[in-house]
Amino acid sequence: MVNAAQSGHFRIGGQFEVARLGFGAMRIVGKGVWGPPEDREEAIRTLKRLPDLGVDFIDTADSYGPDFSEDLIREALHPYGSIRIATKGGLARTGPNVWIPLGRPEYLIQQAHKSRWRLGVEAIDLWQLHRIDPKVPADEQFDAIKSLIADGVIRTAGLSEVGVADIETASSYFPVATVQNRYNLADRASEAVLDACAGRGIGFIPWFPLNAGDLAREGGALDAIARRRKASPGQIALAWLLKRSPVMLPIPGTGKVAHLEENVAAAAIELSDEEFDELDRVGRATG
Ligand SMILES: NC(=O)c1ccc[n+]([C@@H]2O[C@H](COP(=O)([O-])OP(=O)(O)OC[C@H]3O[C@@H](n4cnc5c(N)ncnc54)[C@H](OP(=O)(O)O)[C@@H]3O)[C@@H](O)[C@H]2O)c1
Repeated sequence: MVNAAQSGHFRIGGQFEVARLGFGAMRIVGKGVWGPPEDREEAIRTLKRLPDLGVDFIDTADSYGPDFSEDLIREALHPYGSIRIATKGGLARTGPNVWIPLGRPEYLIQQAHKSRWRLGVEAIDLWQLHRIDPKVPADEQFDAIKSLIADGVIRTAGLSEVGVADIETASSYFPVATVQNRYNLADRASEAVLDACAGRGIGFIPWFPLNAGDLAREGGALDAIARRRKASPGQIALAWLLKRSPVMLPIPGTGKVAHLEENVAAAAIELSDEEFDELDRVGRATG
């Protein structure tokens, strides 16, 4: 039976445990991550399938839609039982595929409250600063996060698209529970950040784990190994991530039940050290 628990577990911020293979809820909304989904019923079905598959960690953001992703999660899954929802704030949306950092502390605080109400939770399990806004002093943004924790609006906090120095600076304001950076077999720019997270027990959430679908494509670079393992290329890419580090929490995104089921099945694939090294070489050559 397919179950995300087969990927192992990680304790976020030392506070709550999740299965390492999670779900990214950016693909359950409209094109350009803008507006409602084209196939609302399928988006709801995909979300409702998560508990059956043992997925108990969902990543979303106030900016996905905006609002639609959080609204759909609540409609499909509230009350959440053992499912933990991670959301984000700090990006304004003015149109499809437009993302504008907005890190004024009053805005971050407002958005965290709005996410809490939209999701229907007393406190957000994990709230992530979507981007550090270069137009606003970083200490003001980190202070806002510190106050959100102190006021019980959020339980734990994370950062997204940051370097090691940002993690160190932020850590003097609040415990950094997770870092979410772009990372996959073919995109390894955040290798040093991943290693820093592993050293500090910080969860590393690789976004674009399937390289936005490219690594899941038939006929791609992972085909030979996938065929040998009787798996799909996307499953192999996810299995590689899971083996790369015990702090790795991949959140493949899809709005389709069939793709979700395929992705979660990767939790059961254990690559050998030789396969891992071979994929590492293929990935570096592809990227
Ligand atoms: N922190 C950030 O700045 C940031 C940025 C981007 C994303 N994220 C988060 O990271 C999550 C993952 O990133 P992502 O969704 O952009 O990229 P991804 O997981 O690498 O790829 C998602 C894409 O692959 C397709 N796909 C998924 N499973 C598939 C399968 N089994 N077979 C074929 N195609 C498949 C999806 O289309 P279908 O819907 O058709 O399956 C979608 O187009 C997001 O959902 C979001 O939560 C964070």
